[in-house]
Amino acid sequence: MSALNSAPDPWADSLRAPVAADALAMHQLVAATGVLDLNSSYAYLLMATDFADTSIVADRDGELCGLITGYHPPARPDVLFVWQVAVSDSARGQGLASAMLDALVYRVRRDRFGHPVTVETTVAPSNTASRAFFGAFARRHGVPLAESPHFSSALLSAAGEHEDEPLLRIGPITAALTA
Ligand SMILES: CC(C)(COP(=O)(O)OP(=O)(O)OC[C@H]1O[C@@H](n2cnc3c(N)ncnc32)[C@H](O)[C@@H]1OP(=O)(O)O)[C@@H](O)C(=O)NCCC(=O)NCCS
Repeated sequence: MSALNSAPDPWADSLRAPVAADALAMHQLVAATGVLDLNSSYAYLLMATDFADTSIVADRDGELCGLITGYHPPARPDVLFVWQVAVSDSARGQGLASAMLDALVYRVRRDRFGHPVTVETTVAPSNTASRAFFGAFARRHGVPLAESPHFSSALLSAAGEHEDEPLLRIGPITAALTA
């Protein structure tokens, strides 16, 4: 069942928290997008271990086809900061990114005894897919999406090669959790 309602979720059986052995495949999946900043394999190993409770992967017959990495900012445990979202080419357009984020938010809230969670992320102005994805998430959950300036391009690249990364705040998500 979907984490959001009673509709069957075709991805439900493929979604799980990452483990250490996923780190190299996570690194490859992000590299293959060609648009996300690629971090070291060590960084993905940290996400798959220390931050596994706030991250999720889609594992289809042993092949990693989606991931979301995230964490709770230490001073704001009611926030789930979504760092990277990636879906393999062959799995796109089938609702996988949405299923992963719904399942991750559900898991995080369940682990926090149903307390509200606000999703935060930064999205470059030109990333229309990402904006559509987070906009759809806000609409599905019936919560506001607010945008504000956050990381400027100058903080990300001395040569001005990186766009600004404004902050999106989505929530708080307060609906009672269903079983
Ligand atoms: C963005 C990405 C994660 C979407 O994955 P996906 O599994 O295909 O997304 P979904 O099928 O769950 O679609 C979620 C919503 O985003 C929209 N969307 C997805 N890709 C889109 C695109 N390229 N352009 C416009 N809208 C798009 C969908 O229409 C859907 O909205 P809806 O529910 O209103 O119809 C995937 O294309 C990807 O990995 N891109 C490269 C990495 C990237 O840009 N990551 C940042 C994303 S936050």
